[in-house]
Amino acid sequence: MARVVIENLVKVYGEKSGPGVRAVNGINLTIEDREFMVLVGPSGCGKSTTLRLVAGLEEISGGTIAIDGRVVNGVPPKDRDLAMVFQNYALYPHMSVFENLAFGLRQRSLPAAEIESRVREAAAMLGLDPYLQRKPAALSGGQRQRVAVGRAIVRHPKVFLFDEPLSNLDAKMRTATRAELSRLHDRLGATMIYVTHDQMEAMTMGDRICVMQDGNIMQVAAPLELYDNPANLFVAGFIGSPPMNLVRGTLAVTSDGLAFIAEEASDAPLRVSLDGALARAAAGAVGRAVVLGIRPEDIRPEGSHVPLSARIDVVEPMGAETFVHLVGSGYTLIARLAPSAKPARGDTFPFSFAPGKLHLFDAASGAALR
Ligand SMILES: Nc1ncnc2c1ncn2[C@@H]1O[C@H](COP(=O)(O)OP(=O)(O)O)[C@@H](O)[C@H]1O
Ligand SMILES: [Mg+2]
Repeated sequence: MARVVIENLVKVYGEKSGPGVRAVNGINLTIEDREFMVLVGPSGCGKSTTLRLVAGLEEISGGTIAIDGRVVNGVPPKDRDLAMVFQNYALYPHMSVFENLAFGLRQRSLPAAEIESRVREAAAMLGLDPYLQRKPAALSGGQRQRVAVGRAIVRHPKVFLFDEPLSNLDAKMRTATRAELSRLHDRLGATMIYVTHDQMEAMTMGDRICVMQDGNIMQVAAPLELYDNPANLFVAGFIGSPPMNLVRGTLAVTSDGLAFIAEEASDAPLRVSLDGALARAAAGAVGRAVVLGIRPEDIRPEGSHVPLSARIDVVEPMGAETFVHLVGSGYTLIARLAPSAKPARGDTFPFSFAPGKLHLFDAASGAALR
């Protein structure tokens, strides 16, 4: 059992010698027992700092961290019952894989038989049995990474902490290891906190994802909830590739009811009538600056008799799908189409937005209008 509760956590680096850097800005986050929680966000947003605070590798400036109901603020790392895997996993080059796996256990003076059995168990889980007598230099990057994970597993910790453990692997190896770590999580039934800047990794691995920016949490949700209902502009733009299309404009009451009208509108402004839940959410924001959001896959090609059309500027065939860059009057969009749509550069592209798939955000605060 391991539930990690983070309350009002603050980290300011260098606060003794000046104003310091506020790396973590009073965050609250609960990681449930056996949960795979991913912390994701751009470089410098405070992911590693948060993880290092949980590990006890940095001193907390404010707030508390509790593991299984026990506040661990003053508890040294070795007594927190957690294991961390870093991006730069330093294996001992002169030791065999077996000895690399056993090293931490020997230091804690575990009986030899217990060490042997834990190392064998971890090696079997990670497919490392054939390599136990090799030195790290004789392993591939992926195998070395597995040894680093194995060193964490042999400790039987309550909580696993991962800081960008796949960053040094090539794309193919990263995908394979990603799946392995997911299986490992199921098998170990352990609580895991996993840091990455890669939204794809976050989406595919996390039970829940915590999106961070500038030391703050922007949203915590399951992957598809995050994708379908981003709470703000930051999450909308960060999760998804290509990202959600965002168009600035205002909300106005027209003869057809409530509508979004893009700014910089010239002769043919982008106008979108709103209905249903979105119209109800937008009603309170008439006259305000807003941002309309639409995912690339929610832009639908249409016959010519629709009010919306743009010019195809770029066509990117990806195989299973084709991305097209659309230029309208004062706005640009990226649409994800089936290759059978056969879009051609320079063509006029009449389109519609899939019903129920539009998002609106307050331009000033960034918050989703719900
Ligand atoms: N040891 C440190 N001393 C001073 N500033 C630091 C230190 N470590 C990180 N920072 C700063 O704290 C902020 C968050 O860093 P970090 O947690 O490493 O972000 P991430 O892991 O999301 O890239 C950044 O502005 C970074 O420059
Ligand atoms: Mg980091």
